[in-house]
Parts: sequence; C-alpha cells; structure tokens
Amino acid sequence: MAFPQTRLRRLRYNSVLRDMVTETKLSVDDLIMPLFVCAGTNVKNPISSMPGNYQLSVELLVEECKKVVAAGVRAVLLFGIPAEKDEHGLVACQHNSIVQTAIRAIKKELPNLYIVADVCNCEYTTHGHCGTIIDGDVDNDSTLVTLAKQSVSLAEAGADMIAPSDMMDGRVGSIRKALDEAHFEKIPIMSYAAKYASGFYGPFREAAESAPKFGNRATYQMNPANSNEAMREVAADIEEGADLVMVKPALSYLDVIYRVKTEFNMPVAAYNVSGEFSMVKAAGANGWIDEARVMMEILTSIKRAGADIIITYHAVDAANIINAMK
Ligand code: PBG
Repeated sequence: MAFPQTRLRRLRYNSVLRDMVTETKLSVDDLIMPLFVCAGTNVKNPISSMPGNYQLSVELLVEECKKVVAAGVRAVLLFGIPAEKDEHGLVACQHNSIVQTAIRAIKKELPNLYIVADVCNCEYTTHGHCGTIIDGDVDNDSTLVTLAKQSVSLAEAGADMIAPSDMMDGRVGSIRKALDEAHFEKIPIMSYAAKYASGFYGPFREAAESAPKFGNRATYQMNPANSNEAMREVAADIEEGADLVMVKPALSYLDVIYRVKTEFNMPVAAYNVSGEFSMVKAAGANGWIDEARVMMEILTSIKRAGADIIITYHAVDAANIINAMK
C-alpha cells in the first residue's frame, strides 16, 4: 500500500481544480464603500492616514460615486463632516444637512446606487461624543431622540438603509419606531451591534473629524476582551428589529463574526475599519508586504469567518481585482 494514503496536495496541483474547490469566493456584491462628504464646493481634502480617501464636497462625491459604480460596487456608506457642530448633533437632523444633501445629489445622477447612511452624533457634536452629554457622560435616553430624528431625516432624503453606530441601548427600537411612524417601514436597519472601543478607528477620526474632545468611548462601545457580551448586544438589536447586524472592527474580531453568524443565522456585516486599511497601505507603501495580495487575503478571511457583507475602504480596489479575475 502506498504511503501516505491521504494526499491533500492532490487537490492543489492544478489551478482549475484549486478554483473548483475554493470554499470562499469574494464577490463584488459583498462590498460596501465608505465615503466622506463635507461642506463647500470643489473640496477634495486628502485624508493623510488613509491614502486614496478624501473628504469630498457634494459634487465631487457624486463623481467619486461614479467611479465606485464603474468598478461594479453597488453600495456606499456615507459619513458627513458638517460646516458647524452643536451640543446635541442636531445639525445632522435637518433637510439640508450635509449627508441629506449628498444623498439627494447622488440619487439624482445614480438612482441605483444603494446608499447606507451611518447614524451617529460624533461627527456632529462640538465635543465629539456620540450623543448628548449630561454630567460628563453620554446620556443614553436623550441621545435616542436625536438618533431617531437623524434617521428619519436621512430616510426622507432618500437613504436606502439606516446604520446606527452609536452603541446606545435601545436605539434600534427607537429608530425602528420613528421610521415606521414616518411610513419608512420598508427601510432596513443595519445595526453596528457588536462595536468595540477600538484603537483601529484612529484614522477615521481624522477623516470624520470626530475624535472625542475629552475622555473616550469606553462607557458605550464594547470592551475588546468580551465576546459573550457581543452576543447579548446582537440579541438585543435583533429583538428590537435590526434586519442586519454588524461586527466592528473585523480583522481582530473574526471569532466574534463567526459566533454571530453561527448563533443567530442573520445577515452579518463586518466593518474592515480605517486602522486595518491604513496598516495595509503603510506596509504596502514600504514594500514590506504585497498590498493587493494581503488585501484580498484579509477580505476573504472576513468572509470565511461568516460575514455576508464587508464594509471596506478597499472596496473599489478589491472589485477591480475580482473583475479582472473573471
Ligand atoms: C461613528 C463611527 C466611527 C466609525 C464608524 N462610525 C468612529 C468611532 O466610533 O469612533 C469608525 C470607522 C472606521 O474606523 O473606519 N461612531
């Protein structure tokens, strides 16, 4: 009898066969591209820690969306940098707020581009926290009111999906109720359900100008050491009406993605956040890694862990690679 009897390499000698037995295939349909929109005209501010990403004024954002669409990516996630901020983030709740204006401009030119609107106060408050401050900390229940207002206003502007990223208790329920009362019962909610207090958001806070001016987000975002707690967060959001649940960040939390997928059987999104992106870019620029290869490996691993949807600043680059492979 020949030895060894099991030769796993037999499936690896031929590239056709390797492709046939590939278990995880990344698709352009899985990807959502995050974009940053700011006030003004003709503004294209490079975000230094996130090469290739910019704060864009509305008309340039629309041009960027055309590139996204040309690459085959069908969804974007919008973040706003307003001209002015206030104590409660109410600048995010008006008809002519920055993201609302951007949504209408995009829909006019690209009606089929799917627009996910991030809902949070941190980009819109003077103090940079995700809600209203009372006694030195973010007050949960008064923040629910502004989040619901912001959500309805974004839906009125034409957002296809609402994605609350604030981590207040009860926000999915209050947003769902407000959307339904405004007759937006068809608009789904993708909750940032297991969102950790992570150092990986550093570059984003430069991009969105949303770093907290005092303290940190540890009283509302999750402790990176916890995974059972993430299951409770996800269960609560589903109970309150979340249609899709997100884990964020992605790469250091693949075990959490896996658990959410296996325990809840819901559509799961993973946010491959700014710091994860910047590390790949920096190492790639130094020639320390093969950037495109590592990017594809990371995105594939996030999908393999159980994510159905990946929000990533690599979306357009990854789509171009996937399209070239066809
Ligand atoms: C807003 C929000 C943040 C991110 C998405 N929505 C920042 C934060 O919580 O501080 C981070 C995204 C990224 O790092 O790419 N609350």
